[in-house]
Amino acid sequence: MRVDIYCLLYYFFCLCYYKISGFIIFFMSLGGNVIMKEWYKELVVYQIWPRSFCDGNGDGIGDLEGVLSKLDYLQDLGINCIWFSPLYPSPNADFGYDIADYRDIHKEYGNLDLFKQVLDGAHQRGMKVIMDLVVNHTSDVHEWFIKSKDPSSPYHDYYFWRKGRLGGKLPPNNWLSCFEGKAWEKDEKSGEYYLHVFAKKQPDLNHDNPKVRQEVKDIMKFWLDMGVDGFREDVITFISKRKGLPNGIPLPIGCGIEHYMDGPNIHKYLGEYREVTDKYDCFTVGEAPMMTPDNALKYVDEKKKELDMMFHFQHIEADAFLIDFLQTKFKLKEMKKAFTNWQNKLNGRAWNTLYIENHDHPRIISRYGSEKYRVESGKMLANMYMLQQGTPFVYQGQELGMLNTRLDSIDDYVDCFVKNNYEVAINKLHMNKKKAFEFAVKSTRDNSRTPVQWDDSKNAGFTTGTPWFPVNKNYKQINAKAEMADPNSIYNHYKKLIKFKKENEVAKWGDYKEYYKNSDKLYVYSRSYNGKSMLVINSFSPERVPFEAPKGFDLDKGTPILCNYENNFVQQNGFKLRPYEARVYLFD
Ligand code: GLC
Ligand code: CA
Repeated sequence: MRVDIYCLLYYFFCLCYYKISGFIIFFMSLGGNVIMKEWYKELVVYQIWPRSFCDGNGDGIGDLEGVLSKLDYLQDLGINCIWFSPLYPSPNADFGYDIADYRDIHKEYGNLDLFKQVLDGAHQRGMKVIMDLVVNHTSDVHEWFIKSKDPSSPYHDYYFWRKGRLGGKLPPNNWLSCFEGKAWEKDEKSGEYYLHVFAKKQPDLNHDNPKVRQEVKDIMKFWLDMGVDGFREDVITFISKRKGLPNGIPLPIGCGIEHYMDGPNIHKYLGEYREVTDKYDCFTVGEAPMMTPDNALKYVDEKKKELDMMFHFQHIEADAFLIDFLQTKFKLKEMKKAFTNWQNKLNGRAWNTLYIENHDHPRIISRYGSEKYRVESGKMLANMYMLQQGTPFVYQGQELGMLNTRLDSIDDYVDCFVKNNYEVAINKLHMNKKKAFEFAVKSTRDNSRTPVQWDDSKNAGFTTGTPWFPVNKNYKQINAKAEMADPNSIYNHYKKLIKFKKENEVAKWGDYKEYYKNSDKLYVYSRSYNGKSMLVINSFSPERVPFEAPKGFDLDKGTPILCNYENNFVQQNGFKLRPYEARVYLFD
């Protein structure tokens, strides 16, 4: 009897609790969308691509010693989270994105003890650390893959091994790899083919096999137990393949992708991985090629989060035709449309990532800005993306205004993606070599993978040895030492901007509204929060552009901050913005 009364009381208490919290959420939502203020939404993340960050032992390759020596630099810049591109043992067919052992550190970079020192050093400085989790595929020298070649091994089903068509003469289906020709490679001994959606040396893992999923969960636990604060999950929306691996629409690029992008079990598998991360105070950000905001909500909606955030590509392809290789003129309207769409659709429902550079894209000033107006356009681009709603990511060297590089011949480049596209352009699209080379120079991922330029000494202070990849020739002018010494540098602008982004409530939580949508020179938007607002004005033109403040904004009453020119005079009914001018006004 007593038990029943307690049960009743408990039931009554729960009912009240749910009713009250339900009402609170309902009333809050009347005043606009409710944003949950999780800690990862207030971070500014810095991406380290370890091979080119800083070499600590003089062998020409960046390493964890080098990272240790730069933790103070990162703290001083104001960032509060580091994302490490893969540090694991790897034969480097795709520079670390082909992992040979998920529980160790590549000898070239150091070892687990050194990694723990870096982790502690970062934590002591108030910085979180996230790891790259690359589980769509392993390296072909991973022991699972080596064992899987034997059809009778329990590891056989860790990958997609299939018999070929026409008695083994043709691959099992017509899929193409994103990096290298066909998506299948034959093992001469067993006569079977294995699937590789990326390079040949990156065989795809079979997540339909519960044992593989258990391995993934164990790997996640391994790093989380060590103290890391989350993961960036590589091409995570590709991990579920359609049953039977049917032929794809026969396209010359990306054939088969409709059978593994957002595959049939993707939400089930991500839900399982989420159960692991939910047990820790951590966050996840998934990489999702070809993602739209509507589709993204199926992964990142606050109500049912499989991932905390997502990297999409829509804003970063405004200078390409179909694929990154085919570079075209930069189309501002296309970029604006993508940013605005994501800002509007995710507002109050999910949280955006904000980025304009990473290890997969050429340098942003060379693409969307102007090398001639490097300082102006570098600062403008920084304001443009970082003042939107979301967690900003800064890629190594971006804060220094580093630019694209140019090498003499295709053989000097090392990016497997661009080498393959170069061949396809010549052999399939019948492009002449000179033209194909120009496309390669502009689009190669090697542009953002040159060693970080620390000072104007030999090898830009990156290494005392011979750098593994040529330092950009412009390092005497563009380097961290010079940037830090100049109060008007891009670096010092980033420093101010990062501080502002972390401290200002409007910049963090405000609603977003775009103006002058049809302009192909200006990108203007406002943010507003709790009666305060901010107007962000960005010119993408090398010419002077007439400007009038949008209705409702009296610039005279605003406080100008983060501008990239001196003398920010205002004439309400019109004045001209200078080349790549950036202005931000705060209103109380
Ligand atoms: C992701 C990585 C890229 C890599 C690819 C295959 O897109 O960012 O660098 O080549 O996945 O792992
Ligand atoms: Ca080294």
